[in-house]
Amino acid sequence: MNQATTIAAYLREKLPFAPDIALVLGSGLGGLAEQIENAVIIPYRSVPGFPVSTAPGHAGQFVAGQLAGKNVLCMQGRFHYYEGHDMAAIALPVRVFKALGCRALVLTNAAGGVNWDFNVGDIMLITDHINFMGANPLRGTNDDSIGPRFCDMTHTYTPELQEKALAVAKKQNILLQKGVYLGYMGPSFETPAEIRAFRVLGADAVGMSTVPEAIAASHCGLPVVALSLITNMAAGMAGKRLDGAEVIEIADRRGPVFQKLVKGIVEVL
Ligand code: HPA
Repeated sequence: MNQATTIAAYLREKLPFAPDIALVLGSGLGGLAEQIENAVIIPYRSVPGFPVSTAPGHAGQFVAGQLAGKNVLCMQGRFHYYEGHDMAAIALPVRVFKALGCRALVLTNAAGGVNWDFNVGDIMLITDHINFMGANPLRGTNDDSIGPRFCDMTHTYTPELQEKALAVAKKQNILLQKGVYLGYMGPSFETPAEIRAFRVLGADAVGMSTVPEAIAASHCGLPVVALSLITNMAAGMAGKRLDGAEVIEIADRRGPVFQKLVKGIVEVL
């Protein structure tokens, strides 16, 4: 038994059903958890060996139940590298989802727009990422029972699930941008020079999460679909300073549209 399978066994005891789809709700996007029917709430602090989240707008609990007719297990609040968690702690919940038998992972986040064609409030389907965090959750001894030492990252953001997400957005008449997410360690925002450099590197959006979770999912063979809510244009692009409160405010304002899209995607997964 590794730590993930131990925690999965604990959660299995608490859950009235086997979860099918796992979701990670990012900053200000936790509202989706309120739409879960027959909700069972499990605070992270009650789970032996589980880390605790400290980021603003993150509740720090699992919410399990039915969403769009599917059995879901949702993280209302995630772990960020900038909080001081090590990468293994960020990978752990993803491995727990896999151990519980989930067939897909939906990752959501708030991100800064790097692509000049984007607008605040846009939603971006992540097609690929650039790991600029300077760390990797797979570093260290490999547990071969979880995944291979050298993990292929060619289809991390599962192509079939991207197609499904695009089809749902079209049906809901929501503009869904596509792009590359660059993971930045934070917690300081990027400098304007960094943003110019990231654009040259091929980034369309920048944020402080998602990349380690996607790597862990790739490693254990869990299909991923990931969405960013563009809460601000990145540093130096809007002629004003960045503000964490504004990120939360935009996330709250666009929450209903974002939640409708995620719910629609869960329905077809
Ligand atoms: N940079 C990094 N992370 C973010 C941003 C940003 O501009 N906006 C929301 N999360």
